[in-house]
Amino acid sequence: MNLIPKKIIKKAVEKIVARYKISAEQAEQIFLDEAVKNKKFMKNVLEFSEKRNFEKWHEYKKLMKKTKKTIYYFLRQYKHEPEEKVKEKLIELKNALEKEKKLEKTVLLHKELLSMHISSKERINSYEKFYEKIFAVTGIPKTVLDVSCGFNYFSVPFMKTKKLFYVGTEHKKEFVKEINDYFELIKNYSEIKGKGVLFDLKETDFDSRNELLYLNNEKTFDVAFLFKLIPVMEREKKGVTQNLIDVIPAEWIVLSASRESMTKKEKISFRETAAINKFIKENALYLSAKIEFENEIIFIVKRE
Ligand SMILES: C[S@@+](CC[C@H](N)C(=O)[O-])C[C@H]1O[C@@H](n2cnc3c(N)ncnc32)[C@H](O)[C@@H]1O
Repeated sequence: MNLIPKKIIKKAVEKIVARYKISAEQAEQIFLDEAVKNKKFMKNVLEFSEKRNFEKWHEYKKLMKKTKKTIYYFLRQYKHEPEEKVKEKLIELKNALEKEKKLEKTVLLHKELLSMHISSKERINSYEKFYEKIFAVTGIPKTVLDVSCGFNYFSVPFMKTKKLFYVGTEHKKEFVKEINDYFELIKNYSEIKGKGVLFDLKETDFDSRNELLYLNNEKTFDVAFLFKLIPVMEREKKGVTQNLIDVIPAEWIVLSASRESMTKKEKISFRETAAINKFIKENALYLSAKIEFENEIIFIVKRE
């Protein structure tokens, strides 16, 4: 079998990384994996690489199309770093907490954990200001409900609240266990108490609101976060967030939209913002503030 000339690999990788949020090494690996599967390409690649405009070659174009498709699905399914890496970081955190005895002294490790998830990674440079600006509108909460929190529960030290009860929801049991493990780990080192709860947006019913209220001693939460959720869920299943507002027992609701696509280097804030504006309008919510961060637009709303 022929080897693929370096100039062809280089050109392909350049094209991919200009468009997709992927490293050159990963792009090269996926391109090569796809190339070896394409017998016609491999058979003729040396001959075509001699031509100046090899990019016009039919097999090359076909291969690039297939590579981009694979990369798109690879990036869509990638949500966070492999479990072992996260576990290693949590052991580091455990050791640091035992040594330092205070949660505030481990903020750097918390940032490292937050940057292991594609969603929280995007706000890594703004976490301090992020909560300061949101709570300037809502007031500093004593209770927070973080719906479909991803890794955002690792941001509790940045909320700068003296006392806090935090509930993070997720749709998979293993995620819920990870949330609970984290709050077990930090329980002796701060005034923050937290809990993970199974909550699938596709399976809410008349009892869902009561189940969430029960967790907070039948009281509505001060603030609920719906970060990067409405546009993502609506893209996945149209109408899935239609009755969500009735299920969320919170005084303030903080929603957000990404500015850039998770997979491609393209601006999507217009499309994402439209989904949130529709949600606000359809649920007759009152928009109290809109805050723009580097990679995210925040909407703070109250029920009218
Ligand atoms: C774009 S991420 C946002 C994560 C987090 N809110 C943040 O901004 O850091 C979307 C989240 O929705 C969750 N999710 C996916 N399908 C869901 C479902 N059917 N019900 C509830 N949550 C779901 C994912 O696990 C993921 O954590």
